[in-house]
Amino acid sequence: MENEKKKRILSGIQPTGIFTLGNYIGAIRNWEKMQEEFECAYFIADLHSLTVRQEPAKLRKQVLEAYALLLACGIDPKKSLVFIQSHVHAHTELSWILSGLTQFGELSRMTQFKDKSAKHADNVNAGLFTYPVLMAADILLYQADFVPVGADQKQHLEFTRDLAERFNSRYSPTFTVPDAYISESGARVMSLQDPTKKMSKSDENPNGFVSILDTPDVIMSKFKRAVTDSDTEVVYKEGKDGINNLMSIYSILAGKTIEETEAEFAGKGYGDFKMAVGEVVVESLRPIREEFDRLKGEKAYLEEMYTEGAKIATSISNRTLSKVKRKVGLI
Ligand code: TYM
Repeated sequence: MENEKKKRILSGIQPTGIFTLGNYIGAIRNWEKMQEEFECAYFIADLHSLTVRQEPAKLRKQVLEAYALLLACGIDPKKSLVFIQSHVHAHTELSWILSGLTQFGELSRMTQFKDKSAKHADNVNAGLFTYPVLMAADILLYQADFVPVGADQKQHLEFTRDLAERFNSRYSPTFTVPDAYISESGARVMSLQDPTKKMSKSDENPNGFVSILDTPDVIMSKFKRAVTDSDTEVVYKEGKDGINNLMSIYSILAGKTIEETEAEFAGKGYGDFKMAVGEVVVESLRPIREEFDRLKGEKAYLEEMYTEGAKIATSISNRTLSKVKRKVGLI
């Protein structure tokens, strides 16, 4: 129906390092496509990245780069609301209010908290622990219907739904209960060096991940070195984690099904297949790299876009926050 209200989408990404092919396939690529059909809001989750020690000057640079990268990936600030989380005060304020409705036990069960505290054992800070509450605030402030994320964020989304339902039933209906939007394929792009681990920009081995700004030569060499198995056939089946991962990457970016990919590479070896995956990745990322190179010099334009984004985001989020404050009994 023409007058039907568009559903709302919200998602965020941390600015610590150039986005990976995993971020692109698992999240940003879907965000870009959703802009036509939905009312979308996307943001750089800079406050979330403070849960890991950051060097201030470097972080500042990374936040700006991340903003430019989102635009280079096709997120259009004329179609979507694109902002920087720390510019909008309501996120931390709602996060505090929601903390009072959150149990220690539920945060202790978060696998990301367990993983990150094992990885940064010398800095298991309170922010790392309450991270999902801030994430819930991010989502609930904008009354999002769907949150497009990779599979690793599923547990955080379930927690957000629980909190929304808890608040709504304790006070009165206030928050839209959001659904995670996790695509069937590509929701978990794996490391090229250890295909049992998700591809991550914090991987110590740079051959494990492809950054979306890697040059064609670097991309090709990472795919050439990608870990596979001792078999020879390009088929998708259990136990072939490396090949399965390469097949999903290829089929998503080439716009083919897994069966079509199997047929295309029937009788060909892993060497040819890896080259083909590398090439499709190079071609998919080329326009992004070119657009990023252009945009990163456009400082005034970027500043204008994120300042405008912050204004609109502040106005939307303040509406929800005022309601929440009233309902919980703050004057
Ligand atoms: P972050 O910055 O780790 O990742 C951004 C998005 O990329 C997805 N992703 C992947 N998808 C497939 N395969 C991979 N290997 C892969 N690696 C990352 C993530 O699932 C995510 O969708 N906590 C969030 C940021 C955040 C947020 C939010 C997201 C903060 N507030 C509110 C949604 C809504 C995070 O750290 O994402």
